[in-house]
Amino acid sequence: MNPTAELGCRYRPEWHYAAERNWLNDPNGLVYSNGVYHLFYQHNPHGDVWGNMSWGHATSADLLTWDEQPVAIPCDEQEAIFSGSAVVDTFNTSGFGVGGVPPLVAIYTSAYAPGSPLAGRQAQSLAYSTDDGATWTKYAGNPVLDRASAEFRDPKVFWYDGGAGSYWVMAAVEAEDREVVLYKSADLKNWEFLSSFGPANATGGVWECPDLFELPVDGDPHDTRWVLIVNLNPGGIAGGSAGQYFVGTFDGVTFRSESTVTEGLQTDGSRMAEYGWLDWGRDYYAAVSFSNAPDGRRLMIGWMNNWQYAAATPSDGWRSAMSLPREVRLASRGGRPVLVQEAVDPFAASGAELFTLGRQELECGITWLPSEASGGVLRIDAELQPAGAGKTGLVLRASGGSAVDSGSEQTVLAYDSVTGELSLDRTSSGNVSFHDTFPSVERVAVPLIDGRLRLRIFLDRCSVEVFAQDGLATITDQVFPSDSSTAVGLLAEGDAGTLLSLTIAG
Ligand code: FRU
Repeated sequence: MNPTAELGCRYRPEWHYAAERNWLNDPNGLVYSNGVYHLFYQHNPHGDVWGNMSWGHATSADLLTWDEQPVAIPCDEQEAIFSGSAVVDTFNTSGFGVGGVPPLVAIYTSAYAPGSPLAGRQAQSLAYSTDDGATWTKYAGNPVLDRASAEFRDPKVFWYDGGAGSYWVMAAVEAEDREVVLYKSADLKNWEFLSSFGPANATGGVWECPDLFELPVDGDPHDTRWVLIVNLNPGGIAGGSAGQYFVGTFDGVTFRSESTVTEGLQTDGSRMAEYGWLDWGRDYYAAVSFSNAPDGRRLMIGWMNNWQYAAATPSDGWRSAMSLPREVRLASRGGRPVLVQEAVDPFAASGAELFTLGRQELECGITWLPSEASGGVLRIDAELQPAGAGKTGLVLRASGGSAVDSGSEQTVLAYDSVTGELSLDRTSSGNVSFHDTFPSVERVAVPLIDGRLRLRIFLDRCSVEVFAQDGLATITDQVFPSDSSTAVGLLAEGDAGTLLSLTIAG
């Protein structure tokens, strides 16, 4: 659980990492080593808005309880430390290891400051740690990869071991060109160009923070695909920042997408809903995965914010949190592999079941649940059977929760049987006035399975994360309700539908 110091309690999440003080954005250098998950992140150590970009650092044994560590790689007058990744250099290919202990190596973007001879450029650099992430030393030969570009950033490095050989691969972006560029290296210091990918699918903003990894389809190790993650800003499906993904093949040189809707630029945006999105909400950006996670799990974390309004969100000495970590898998749906996502569940180990309901017909309007079912930090599992023409869903983080105050402050999650869309409406969710673009309704088409809709919802003090149909579609949104807005209601409009089951943990 995050510290709740007297200063900085307002909205401070219980289960989502936020720096104790000051600003954070992208997760960086996600790596597992010797039983510890390391979360580095874009951090301003001196203020609560973006600036002085440095790598902050937190560690966890369970991906849920994080201990903040000293700033790992601070900016200086020569460079800001932009996003990147970290690897366990098991074979000491870099030569940074001492005494047979594999070093951790961070590959980050040097965003050169006006004080540097390389001012205005972005190039890739190394820092290494021989004490399991506690202290970091910049490599004297930095940068290790310089294309003389002002927009070349966010290197994600992994060890490729396949038909073409065994070597490090870096995926980075030429952000303005909407291009992912791939390089290879034997030692992390010398890099050779392999290929590029893009522009493709969503191109309404710069491409940032890529990732590339292999996953089995439906758990079959003999049937795998590669997933290319491309975060983009703006131009996301719900407006502003978002993450898209491509599914395809990678032969050690070239990524070939099987999920590009048509080749080339989609300039009019009319096919946006056909692209692969990591999340259909407003607040899941710069998502990348852990290196070296145990049991072959592919675990991702996103920055739970959106560049449209990130600088203006209500702050209390700290600003911005990460999403819950999510395990991603590939599953065949409609004859093609798509990503399904499952949150690491804080309530599995430490939650108590607060309330359950069995099968019942829904009544039109809002049926408020009793007070033991309410809360600001909850996991809600619901299975619904929507009826022919109507809306069914849940009212969350509501004020009142009675006939007297029927939820004037509320966040509404509803499935519309006519459009087949699940929507999350935060227009009345609480403080929405801090930025024009914040009040919004997010929508995603969700197929019913045997006429049923399964929802898993995580509420924390300033966020709602929705996993529909076992993670086939997710919606992540920040909300800033009053502390006292904790009521939960069942919603039905038109042909009301049936609640099959409901379990609330907290
Ligand atoms: C994405 C991003 C990255 C960059 C970092 C700077 O949110 O713009 O492309 O490395 O943030 O903080």
